[in-house]
Amino acid sequence: MPTPKPTRLHRRDLTVDVHLDPEWFDRTLRQDVLDGLTSEFKELPPKWFYDDRGSALFDEITRLDEYYPTEAERTILRSRADEIAIATGADTLVELGSGTADKTRVLLDAMSRFGLLECYVPFDVSEGILRASSVELLTEYPGLRIHGVVGDFEHHLADIPTGGTQVIALLGGTIGNFGPISRKALLTDIVSTMHPGDQFLLGTDLVKDPSRLVAAYDDSRGITAEFNKNLLHVLNHRLGADFDPTRFEHVARFDDTDEWMDLRLRSLEDQTVRVADLDLDVHFARGEEMRTEISAKFRRSGVVSELAAVGLTLERWWTDPQGDYALSLSTLR
Ligand code: AVJ
Repeated sequence: MPTPKPTRLHRRDLTVDVHLDPEWFDRTLRQDVLDGLTSEFKELPPKWFYDDRGSALFDEITRLDEYYPTEAERTILRSRADEIAIATGADTLVELGSGTADKTRVLLDAMSRFGLLECYVPFDVSEGILRASSVELLTEYPGLRIHGVVGDFEHHLADIPTGGTQVIALLGGTIGNFGPISRKALLTDIVSTMHPGDQFLLGTDLVKDPSRLVAAYDDSRGITAEFNKNLLHVLNHRLGADFDPTRFEHVARFDDTDEWMDLRLRSLEDQTVRVADLDLDVHFARGEEMRTEISAKFRRSGVVSELAAVGLTLERWWTDPQGDYALSLSTLR
């Protein structure tokens, strides 16, 4: 594990602890691709979608009419931000997977309206995006202290700074990318960072008519298909692979047993792909599918019991008017 190298910009109010380095990315990507492409059922983790092009495509997805979660969450946040600020009384917002910190402002505004806001702790894998959004926020919120952490959800949650009363936010439906077992591990790690009085704010997409789910993940403009295939571009660029994305098609199905969206790339022909940097040849049969993402959908009862299983009690549950998406607030028992 690389040792943390806290880096300080020339301002008193911004600290960024970097726990990831380029070697970490490289090592993890290679391991994931080796594991994922040599197993009988091929599968790659969704975190590798997000190079610059992948992030831009995801951004485009969030603006599609068919992709309702982003707008639904924003609607709930706008109408409930004051309630969240008052209910938590928190002076520190910790945001896991902060990205461009777009919806963060709604929460920061509310905390600041009630005179509570002291510190923002963005946690993200991308150092560049974290620094850029932090610098913007510092000018927008005079007096705000920012202590960013560049890390990976599965390894560095313990490195989140403590202090103050914290609301720890995991928004956007990010938790849907984890299956039940890794979800429990993630929630356990989150709970380990919490102290009495801290609260957990979670955004979950809800189970609904499968046709709307499929439309959200197989949009008519084909942006999600392009986003999915971007994974192949990433492997081409980063590992010297020779995937031809036109020889794969995007597949998005709702699995009603596991209640998750299951995204795959299906090989349109019998083909062998070379991954030069791994000295690996991978065969795809015609019609063979490789899973690239799951996006779990939730019910209130499931969220309550998954939270309870890690020692959290649900305090509030809010949905958008259509009941498509939920925000929940929970506390340590
Ligand atoms: C960023 C994981 C919340 O699961 O809805 C969107 C990613 N994938 N369309 C989701 C995604 C295809 C998104 N999350």
